[in-house]
Amino acid sequence: MAILKIARMGHPILWQRADPVDDPAAPEIRRLIADMIATMDDAGGAGLAAPQVHVRLRLFVFRVAAERSSGAEDDQPMPVSVVINPTVTPLGEEQRLRWEGCLSIPGLRAAVPRYARVRYAGIDEEGRAFTREAGGFHAGVVQHENDHLDGILYPMRMTDFSLFGFTEELARAEAQARGA
Ligand code: NI
Repeated sequence: MAILKIARMGHPILWQRADPVDDPAAPEIRRLIADMIATMDDAGGAGLAAPQVHVRLRLFVFRVAAERSSGAEDDQPMPVSVVINPTVTPLGEEQRLRWEGCLSIPGLRAAVPRYARVRYAGIDEEGRAFTREAGGFHAGVVQHENDHLDGILYPMRMTDFSLFGFTEELARAEAQARGA
């Protein structure tokens, strides 16, 4: 396994549309998946898409950590999940602002409108097709990672730029608001 270099916002690969994976079970795809999981964990991210590590393929990895899960049935904690050639469909019109960060936009966070619930389909690392329904953090991270495959970064989804800031400053402001 290797820790891969993560492209930061401004690198052209992040604006490009990625291509489908032809053979999800190919050895080079397995290697890429292992390296992406190692890279995501090393960087402390909740998700990572292949274009972020300079590979223009439709594939992402993510996890729902226990502290991120709302506990709802469609937002349970999940170990690392691999999603190859995904399709994401909103379930209903409802959107919510969700606080997000991105390993390609280090040090910043923002509140981004996302569909509250989605259905997504894809292929896992064993080549098996699956369909899931997701809400809460799970729905948000899937929409964020899927956007990377279409060359979309979260600032391109934002509607209120007053909810955009450095993680450190936002944490300080939040602590002050709590009277800490
Ligand atoms: Ni991202």
